[in-house]
Amino acid sequence: MTERKVTITDIRGRKPSRNPEAKRLVSITAYDYPMAILAERAGVDIILVGDSGGMVTLGYRDTKPVTMDEMVYMSSAVSRGVRRPLLVGDMPFMSYQESVEKATRNAGRLVKDGGMDAVKIEGGADFAPTVRALTRAGIPVMGHIGFTPQTTPTAEGYKVQGKTAAAAVSLIEDARLLEEAGAFSIVLEMTASETAKAITDSVGVPTIGIGAGPGCDGQVLVLHDVLGLFDKFTPRFAKRYLDLSSEIQGAIESYAQEVTSGAFPGEEHTFHMDPEEAQRLPSARRPK
Ligand code: KIV
Repeated sequence: MTERKVTITDIRGRKPSRNPEAKRLVSITAYDYPMAILAERAGVDIILVGDSGGMVTLGYRDTKPVTMDEMVYMSSAVSRGVRRPLLVGDMPFMSYQESVEKATRNAGRLVKDGGMDAVKIEGGADFAPTVRALTRAGIPVMGHIGFTPQTTPTAEGYKVQGKTAAAAVSLIEDARLLEEAGAFSIVLEMTASETAKAITDSVGVPTIGIGAGPGCDGQVLVLHDVLGLFDKFTPRFAKRYLDLSSEIQGAIESYAQEVTSGAFPGEEHTFHMDPEEAQRLPSARRPK
């Protein structure tokens, strides 16, 4: 693990076609200071402050209500915790779709106020001009195609993308246009693995899969899925490495039980006056 800051050039270099020795990129989401510190210590290359934070930490039903202020708040907490990983902040729904000017202003906030190194935007060919404008303004952009939660009606649920040859061809075209516009990497979400591999082989920038099979140049997962800290649902593509919800609930139950029984606080958690001062205390009076 390198101790210096991971750069956009480092990420671009993690493409086997550019560098046969390239190791797969490791990315995970984080939304606050302590988790960002742990992700850095674990050696991840990229921390993504995803708008998924709106669901797993703020309790929204989907990512659509997430605001720029909330993204800046989460991003600045994350950026205060880490030095080495590349930090990518998600542009929330309607922060970039309206106009390139609005996209530039909001992406600038994630960099200036949130401390992010780059931003991520969902969408294919239609957003190539936005990617181009942000890149020209000096804000590196990560693309995101395949399943794009911001523009999928909640009622439609999670649907795997790129399941036909025609859909694959269209996604390959999207990826090529994003790369041409300057995207330094592209997230492929919930996409048939054959299509994800074909996209990966068609572009010169790394692809980062989430539910897109093993053929991508890297993987990203939502932290709360990895830790088992979000009980509402776990997508089939997410692997749980811990059951932290049960562990945390168990700890709070033990605390509650010890408070009730008087076992907490113990002597080791208690402060005392000097014994002489304690002698001078007025004796307790009973309320009338
Ligand atoms: O918001 C998020 O966490 C994401 C990942 C699913 C890539 O966009």
